[in-house]
Amino acid sequence: MNCYGHFDDAAREYVITRPDTPWPWINYMGTGDFFSLISNTAGGYCFCRDAKFRRILRYRYNGVPMDAGGRYFYIKDGDTVWNPGWKPCKTPLDLYECRHGMGYTRICGEKGGLRAETLFFVPLEQRCEVHRVKLTNRSDSPKQIQLYAFVEWCLWNASTDMENFQRNLSTGEVEVGPDVLFHKTEYRERRNHYAFYGANRPFDGFDTDREAFLGMYNGFDAPEQVLAGTSANSVAHGWSPVAAERFDLTLAPGASEELIFVLGYVENPAEAKFEAPGVINKAPARAMRDAFATDAQADAAFADLRAYWDDLLGRFSVASDVPELDRTVNIWNQYQCMITFFMSRSASYFESGIGRGMGFRDSNQDLAGIVHLIPDRARQRILDIAATQFPDGGCYHQYQPLTKRGNNDIGGGFGDDPLWLLFGTIAYLKETGDFTILSEPVPFDNVPGSEVTLLEHLKISFRRVATSLGPHGLPLIGRADWNDCLNLNCFSAHPGESFQTYGPSEGPVAESVLIAGMFVKYGNEYADICDAVGDHEEAKRARFETEKMSDAVMKNGWDGEWFLRAYDAEGRKVGSKDCEEGKIYIESNGFCSLAGIGVREGLARKALDSVKERLDTEYGIMLLQPPYTRYHLELGEISSYPPGYKENAGIFCHVNPWVSIAETVIGRGSRAFEIYKKTCPRFLEDKSEIHRTEPYVYSQMVAGKDAPSFGEAKNSWLTGTAAWTFTNISQYILGVYPTLKGLRIDPCIPSDFGDYTVKRIYRGARYIIKIKNPSRVEKGVKSVIVNGEKIDGNVIPPAGVNERVLVEVTMG
Ligand code: BGC
Repeated sequence: MNCYGHFDDAAREYVITRPDTPWPWINYMGTGDFFSLISNTAGGYCFCRDAKFRRILRYRYNGVPMDAGGRYFYIKDGDTVWNPGWKPCKTPLDLYECRHGMGYTRICGEKGGLRAETLFFVPLEQRCEVHRVKLTNRSDSPKQIQLYAFVEWCLWNASTDMENFQRNLSTGEVEVGPDVLFHKTEYRERRNHYAFYGANRPFDGFDTDREAFLGMYNGFDAPEQVLAGTSANSVAHGWSPVAAERFDLTLAPGASEELIFVLGYVENPAEAKFEAPGVINKAPARAMRDAFATDAQADAAFADLRAYWDDLLGRFSVASDVPELDRTVNIWNQYQCMITFFMSRSASYFESGIGRGMGFRDSNQDLAGIVHLIPDRARQRILDIAATQFPDGGCYHQYQPLTKRGNNDIGGGFGDDPLWLLFGTIAYLKETGDFTILSEPVPFDNVPGSEVTLLEHLKISFRRVATSLGPHGLPLIGRADWNDCLNLNCFSAHPGESFQTYGPSEGPVAESVLIAGMFVKYGNEYADICDAVGDHEEAKRARFETEKMSDAVMKNGWDGEWFLRAYDAEGRKVGSKDCEEGKIYIESNGFCSLAGIGVREGLARKALDSVKERLDTEYGIMLLQPPYTRYHLELGEISSYPPGYKENAGIFCHVNPWVSIAETVIGRGSRAFEIYKKTCPRFLEDKSEIHRTEPYVYSQMVAGKDAPSFGEAKNSWLTGTAAWTFTNISQYILGVYPTLKGLRIDPCIPSDFGDYTVKRIYRGARYIIKIKNPSRVEKGVKSVIVNGEKIDGNVIPPAGVNERVLVEVTMG
């Protein structure tokens, strides 16, 4: 419980009880190709397929006041003008509540005896938002009010929309119907798409020109027309088209009125663009609006949406003695994994949707969080990602979702990227057992005719890293590895140069111990795949290479008390006790240990103890210590951040699970779970004043102890943290680990964790796994009984589709 809200687990909602949260607390809507961001005050925007090129609503990033623009309902009741979501008028409300649920948001406001309940959702398989508004007169006297529904259109390309005013202040065009307002900028020429905002009844007045509605020098908080209770019936020609619809309503005491709005996006085939010269073909828009015109239709669409999420979230759940854990795993963590998969790193309140495409590395990692939920989409994503690889095994670092083409501005050369393709594919294979994916033909750089099988792509990925080694036998880092900000081949001395693309990029000396750890872990899993498809020779070769790499790490990547992080372009150590700053890093210690390097020799334990001693804080483990206090030309962006922020000694939540997983590898369940809890937002809910971002989702980064704002989170929602924490808790701590041969049960928990049950769908069968820990151990399985029969070992072979499998596990 905190002063901003609370969880309602039965409804799978987070309930925000005051609108002035420490930062806009947002939600996402959409499951297909139409997506919306919506804040607790109804701010935000939507887009179809691509947040940059098909932006529907305009949004002002980092605006003043914060979170300006959204779907705003204004109510004029006598002299009072207010919004159910408080913003933008900020008129004090008698009641406010926002409920963020799975793919929908409800916002309820009450003022002067009038209650407004709004529901926003994106129906399944539709390119629209549905807005339901129910107004109830809870006072004793009749009310005559005006309701305005308002959105501001973006001129499609969210980037030029904010820059190219010499053109776009002249291009805006609209059409007006009695109950729908259409936005058709650039439709006259090369676009075949338009947007609309319609209601299920005719409006009493409208505006489509922003200044006519707001007044030239007014903000969203004081629209001239609303203050006057009028409409100008303006038709926008250029400038800034909006849709503002006015309804004059009379409500008897106790009476309610409900309106349904559809904010939609339509693409027409070239031959059916117009219904008359210059007049857009509106039939699809009308059909979409009509599909949600009645309460029954809207109810049914909403019920379908809820059923969709109920089904998904019914695929993996835990019942333990730790309610915070159950809520996180069963609801919000999996939900965040889905959103992160949908969005990659494109659109959030920290990602503007215009900057970054889909990351090669990011998108592969995201798969780990959703492959058990939507395996078919994971399959397609893997093939899309692989198609951006180059014939030499290198990869575009990013690609555009609309075209699925690699992004030339950033190019490739990131040393770790090829291994993430192994990671993503392996996660898919272990979950689904669908080896047919390996024979799919996949081109290089999307060039038709260049297709080889996906298995071949994996082979060249592996080879690429195995053969790109530096002087210490460790992988060359290239532009960077997972840590995009450790730029050892960059040497940028001038402001404005991109750390990601500047410099010689693929230097022959700088090496990464993190990539070495990844290579050992995923190289061995790649070998398992080769065995599974009968290529034992390749499996043998792969194991030989990982063995060699492991030796190289032990020999050249060990610093005495922990693993080194890297060697720079001059062959100097990075992340060593000999360094003046940045003596120890989290990533290599987490990854090498979880890959099993030095476990037998006690090095992993030593490394993890060092991490605890030197990097741990109450909010999680910092990325490095001590922070860089000055700019280091030879290290790049990492040293550009002030101490304690981002990669320069911030608590990077994404990599905390690597250490937690490593702790499970050496059997320390208490420590693994302690690390898990520190970054888990649900356990931080009562620290929202400090933490600031949403208490229901992970953030990328929390300021480290060297920062003045220690404990303050940033960059919520779109982070690999979602998938990695889910992998950690579900597979390593709770210990239900998919392998190529079936589910392996191997929990690693605190000794006082208690018994628990995991329910999971796996390859079509439903598993109920009851785990008992009578001897209060942290790791170790004494017996596994499957449907009443004890099995050898702890790997449960896959059952038939729709079978119910009862598994009783005794630790000890
Ligand atoms: C990027 C990741 C990167 C991480 C660490 C994130 O912002 O999306 O690709 O691995 O930062 O630098």
